[in-house]
Amino acid sequence: MHVPYEVPRVSVSDAAPGAADVDLIIIPIAQDHTASASGTYDAVFGGDLGAAIARGEFCAKSCEIYVARRPGKDWRASRVLFVGGGPRAEIDAERIHRMAVSAAHAARQQRDGRIAWADVEPGMLSTAARVELIAEGLTFANFDGGTYKSRNHDRFFVTHAVILTSPDAAVAAATGCATGESINAARVLINEPGNLLTPRLLAEKAQSLASVPGITSEVLDERAIQALGMGMLLGVAQGSVEPPRLLVLRYEPAGAPAGQTLGLVGKGVTFDTGGISLKPADGMERMKDDMAGGATVVAALRSIALQQLPIRAIAVVPMVENMPGGKAVKPGDILRAASGLTVEVNNTDAEGRLILGDALWYARQLGATHLVDVATLTGAVVVALGKTTTGLFGTPEPWLHHIRKAAETAGERLWPMPLFPDYRDQLKSEIADMVNSPGRPAGAITAAMFLKEFAGEGPWAHLDIAGTAWAEDHKPWQPKGATGAMIRTLIDVARGGFPGV
Ligand code: BES
Ligand code: MN
Ligand code: ZN
Repeated sequence: MHVPYEVPRVSVSDAAPGAADVDLIIIPIAQDHTASASGTYDAVFGGDLGAAIARGEFCAKSCEIYVARRPGKDWRASRVLFVGGGPRAEIDAERIHRMAVSAAHAARQQRDGRIAWADVEPGMLSTAARVELIAEGLTFANFDGGTYKSRNHDRFFVTHAVILTSPDAAVAAATGCATGESINAARVLINEPGNLLTPRLLAEKAQSLASVPGITSEVLDERAIQALGMGMLLGVAQGSVEPPRLLVLRYEPAGAPAGQTLGLVGKGVTFDTGGISLKPADGMERMKDDMAGGATVVAALRSIALQQLPIRAIAVVPMVENMPGGKAVKPGDILRAASGLTVEVNNTDAEGRLILGDALWYARQLGATHLVDVATLTGAVVVALGKTTTGLFGTPEPWLHHIRKAAETAGERLWPMPLFPDYRDQLKSEIADMVNSPGRPAGAITAAMFLKEFAGEGPWAHLDIAGTAWAEDHKPWQPKGATGAMIRTLIDVARGGFPGV
């Protein structure tokens, strides 16, 4: 077994690019500034960059890469890589992150272990914001998902990354690097297969990921879950020989305002077969990622604590395996939620909303006033928004606005979906308070409407990451596999506090 990532030693320096003693210098260039860039660098590279631009070999389009000829001997680095940014007015948080990840992947491919990033392209960001994203991106790229390859697996990691920028940005670089580490740790968990990551093992691993100063943790076993009356969580668990777990993490720094607590709730289905409403075989292996929401909230809380943000925050993750065992919940069965509501389970594959309903209720019991849940909840959100955009649901408007702003700062994409009261009709059951599977129309919305029944009256947002948690194909800025989507957004939600909500 291989360790899937290494955290590079990230530092900042105000050295000139020529003075940096590294294997590779990365230089970002905006598409509308190629002329001035070749003016700056052509003397160093014997006109190589200008010639490449003139030939049309390199246009500095977004994430385009050009490796230039060896620099003149007054430069210490042995190689230089230019990475395109597209037009400067387009270089936002998402773009700078993608540029950093793409360039660092290329560095690993060329076996350059000590790299430098010349912070010469401002884009639209402040220096601190940009440097944080660069440091995070360079760390994110230092990941290799071939954990269980035992033959001919040739791995190479960046060991040192220095960002050539103002020394004032040292804290931002360290923060970005720590966030990258949290994200990579979450990606490891999300990639892990169901046989090696049962609910009990996920609870253990998540607890150790969150064991940083300021976080206290507790894992509730099946008896404790029963004592709380969580009939929905237990109902999903009963089809598996693996018992469920409920992870609770608390970050309550001294001096943080007591009246407000951010409650992060994440779906922790370690494998989703669909249960008795069994999923088709094709692509079912992908359902090992159905705990991505859980990994996301744990990684985010870890970073929130490492940054010592001055708010109270808790994370609640229900962990379960959805299996069609002999004792499994059957279509038509009635479950009683911890909140007291009864649910007719007309489809055992709509299990995420069941376990999250109990977890949202519990987060409120523990004092959470501002809720955000994250879940690979519905195939329908993939139909609606595709694989690039997370679905945002919830209430009230100012809380959703706060989440959208945080996603913008983080460079992650999400988009709001409506929760009109009319959709509530689809949840009606003849025999109980509601059904868990309200049919195909507006499937992502009705799933959110179900969760709303358990989220209480306060601010609540639901992020459906079924499309964004997993990349199906390789991109320079995102290899195939777990993405770690929404971790940065949650950290920025916490940084923003509770503005007027
Ligand atoms: N984990 C799935 C959702 C999912 C589907 C995630 C595809 C990633 C990719 C969830 O538990 C599920 O099975 N949802 C059902 C709900 C339906 C039965 C109402 C779905 O989306 O089909
Ligand atoms: Mn399911
Ligand atoms: Zn699921």
